[in-house]
Amino acid sequence: TPTPLLVFSGSTRADSLNRKLAKATADLATAAGAQVTLLDLSDFDLPIYNGDLEAQGTPADVIRFKQTLHAHPAWIISTPEYNGGYPALLKNALDWASRPVTGNDEWANGLKPFAGKVVGLLAASPGGLGGISSLSHLTPMLMKLQCWTTPKQFALAKAHEAFDANGQLASAGARQGVQAVIDQVLWAAPRLAA
Ligand code: FNR
Repeated sequence: TPTPLLVFSGSTRADSLNRKLAKATADLATAAGAQVTLLDLSDFDLPIYNGDLEAQGTPADVIRFKQTLHAHPAWIISTPEYNGGYPALLKNALDWASRPVTGNDEWANGLKPFAGKVVGLLAASPGGLGGISSLSHLTPMLMKLQCWTTPKQFALAKAHEAFDANGQLASAGARQGVQAVIDQVLWAAPRLAA
């Protein structure tokens, strides 16, 4: 049976390079036999985390986001690098998802968004290193949340020049870099994923 694979970008910008990389990755993963869900974080109304807000009841979209993570044993995240780390948007989404649910939907605490998930990481940047430093921060956060992260990661350098008119990766090297992550995720998920 095909692995349900969630792919999403750590940027919601309309012309986001990471959004493009997530889409190109979703297409490659579909061709590799995965059952892909391409998620857009802008489809979720996730306020900046605040414990007082949480005490009033977990926002409905946090629960919906947790359900989406829960439903996918494997993920690939493509993140920008902001000042050597990964964006607050992504940290905030994952921080919310890590919290127990308060309010009237406590059944949602049965959701297991993180533990045992197999996660492959990509980055994209117009810079020469592709935003790779973001991954050295995102990796330990996911490990802390008991995700498995694949040894292969890929950072797409000069990402503003990397896509053809159809939104696919123009260079064979870039395609191979992404494919190596996809291959490890799809290999590991049936063996490791909860
Ligand atoms: C950046 N950018 C950036 N790029 C990089 O390679 N290393 C970095 O440390 C940073 N730092 C940084 C900080 C902030 C606050 C912004 C807004 C941007 C540039 C970044 O890679 C570029 O804007 C990308 O296009 C962002 O990703 P998306 O939105 O195209 O996916």
